[in-house]
Amino acid sequence: MRVARSLGSALALALGACGGEPTQDEPTDDAWLVPAVDASPDDSVFETTLTARPGSKQYGDLPATPIWGYDGLVPGPLLDVRRGDTLRVHLANELPASTTVHWHGIRLPATMDGVVPMQAPIEPGATFDYEFPLKDAGLYWFHPHLEADEQVQRGLHGALRVRGDDEPVADVERVLVLDDIDLKEDGTFPTYLDDEAKMMGREGDLLLVNGLVTPTLVAPPGATLRLRLVNVANGRFFHLRVGELPLVVLGGDGPRYPSPRDATHVLLAPGDRADVMVRLPAAPGEVIELVSDPYERGHHSGDRPPALVGRIELAGAAVQEPAPLPTTGPELELLPDPTDPADTIAIELTEGIDPQGELAFYVNGLTYPDVPPVMVPLGAIRALEVTNGSEMDHPFHLHGFFFQEIARAGVPVPAEERGWEDTVIVPAETTLRLVARFDEPGMWMYHCHILEHAELGMMGEIHVE
Ligand code: C2O
Ligand code: CU
Repeated sequence: MRVARSLGSALALALGACGGEPTQDEPTDDAWLVPAVDASPDDSVFETTLTARPGSKQYGDLPATPIWGYDGLVPGPLLDVRRGDTLRVHLANELPASTTVHWHGIRLPATMDGVVPMQAPIEPGATFDYEFPLKDAGLYWFHPHLEADEQVQRGLHGALRVRGDDEPVADVERVLVLDDIDLKEDGTFPTYLDDEAKMMGREGDLLLVNGLVTPTLVAPPGATLRLRLVNVANGRFFHLRVGELPLVVLGGDGPRYPSPRDATHVLLAPGDRADVMVRLPAAPGEVIELVSDPYERGHHSGDRPPALVGRIELAGAAVQEPAPLPTTGPELELLPDPTDPADTIAIELTEGIDPQGELAFYVNGLTYPDVPPVMVPLGAIRALEVTNGSEMDHPFHLHGFFFQEIARAGVPVPAEERGWEDTVIVPAETTLRLVARFDEPGMWMYHCHILEHAELGMMGEIHVE
């Protein structure tokens, strides 16, 4: 693992300043993601092979953990592509299990979305070619959509950064994959899923940034730092701050917000992304802590102490003229709220005990696949009225389309607070009204992104035709 990591740093070094990676003479660290290599001679195509396979990785001081990873890495290689280009990924399955790859947040043809039955499971030893154009800038991620709770936890996930033509300039930009891991003392994964793990999603004591336990990232003093954050944890929410520094939030899941937002924290549920800028102090040697502060998502989770996620150490030559913090973003097309009640789809999320006495998570009182599919005509705009009738938050994720949150608990969300999202926290005992344009045919999933909840039934389908 060590070897692969330093190879990653070496590649990042060799790539020079492109994308904010360090140049030869700057101090750096181990926490850069390993970039995927583009094998296509065609400039408008990014083509690469990803092999899903078992591997080994050491977490902290524990004995080596048998993991599953893309190219044997956790996280998988960073796919760094331009908006408008085509991504072509040859997926080779060398796992002892069937798998698929879901491209979380990407607008693509349904046959490329990585869900069964839009594609057949990729059997052990088999391959599948994913190919689609990238319509939107933003940070996305990829993970299996078969036994996702187990496969993602074992390490199958990776980040996909799509650059637009008008990206804000930062002195340093980093993709941070946030995760946690629950391991036994011998370094292996527990096999038994207890009620706590079913209820909260598997949560572990080890917090990970780019697969490393609470690493120290190095950045130049005085720099404008852009952090592209994605939470790939099964259950943990990250309520993240960067020391006490003010944050400028440029965007969430999809393309950036029309106007950046000031914040002290960003809250990321599983599946969520955030695009954040922060001006680092011009104080060489200073160490800034990345901390996840308490957040109540149900069952007294808010009583936990703050958790250290990682550190940023200011080292090297100070930046004399830091990049400015953006004050504007791309224009946002505001989707209209459909007025005909027939155009509102009601989705109620609840939890309970099934007839076998097991915890179950329901959509409109049923568990997937018994939840009847919602039919939507191609091109239609529909409102999803998502009600959380339980005592804990559920992060609602829609495949294939962005939505805009237009009302929360009956109160309209002001236009300047809207954005393109694909994952949103539906707080306990709250209703959100989300609007989307269903302009791509096929079968599309929606589900809670606490992966244990999805696997235990909190999932449904939208059929667009
Ligand atoms: Cu990231 Cu259906 O999932
Ligand atoms: Cu849930």
